[in-house]
Amino acid sequence: MINRAIELIRKSKKPVIFTGAGMSRESGMRTFRGEDGLWKKYSPEKLSSISGLKADPEAVWNWYRMRLMTAKGVVPHAGYRALTHLQSVKGHLPVITQNVDGLHRLAGQTDVLEIHGSMRTASCMDKCGFSTELTSEIQKNSLPVCPDCGAILRPDIVLFGEALPAEIISRSYELAENCDLLIVIGTSVQVWPAAGIPFAALENRATIIEINPVQTELPHSDNVISIRRKAGEILPLLAGLKEKI
Ligand code: OAD
Repeated sequence: MINRAIELIRKSKKPVIFTGAGMSRESGMRTFRGEDGLWKKYSPEKLSSISGLKADPEAVWNWYRMRLMTAKGVVPHAGYRALTHLQSVKGHLPVITQNVDGLHRLAGQTDVLEIHGSMRTASCMDKCGFSTELTSEIQKNSLPVCPDCGAILRPDIVLFGEALPAEIISRSYELAENCDLLIVIGTSVQVWPAAGIPFAALENRATIIEINPVQTELPHSDNVISIRRKAGEILPLLAGLKEKI
């Protein structure tokens, strides 16, 4: 199975990567629905929805402060480095990610489409145009406010109840519809419209290589090669950086 995946990657003319929280698990970030997933302990309605932010912005900021603390000092693992290597080998290899931790860019990857935004920046909730990196000063403030207009700031992540950034999601679907190979890593394929990306690729006759230790919503089919291992173990092999696990 691994040899077939290596061969598919080698032959692919238009490969695309699609990642979720499991991609960052081995760097120390927690998933949402996997084993010890965040949504088993915390409420996405309260902490990650637009209604939750309006009802209790302080709770949402406390939660993001906690996640930023976790992300502090986190470095991309061997699987990330393998994807960066693959990008240089293939020349053009877009990365569509649901992750907001910025690790693809930190690993030196280019053409990264963050369809759920980024937790490393914040902007004015009243949309006055103010936007900023999340400095420790802002993080210290229990409820950071916009220095220009005084409204509350919000992290630049897509919350449940909000639309995804239109241009980014439309380019992501276009890439999925036109790729010949989609490498799907560390996502439960449960949150829409992101979850539609692999299905769009399949409908357009692409092959999928899935890397996830557990079964997901992706179908069993000749066009789906599911490698039930961790991203950090398998990606260096697929990228030709290692010969054995
Ligand atoms: P989930 O938490 O739903 O799924 C993570 C997947 O990663 C699970 O299927 C795990 O089995 C798998 N996994 C765990 N460790 C892994 C490893 N080392 N290598 C490979 N796979 C591993 O995360 P997402 O699918 O990304 O939305 O969740 C989608 C969205 O739901 C997130 O972007 C977030 C969340 O609510 C927003 O914040 C808008």
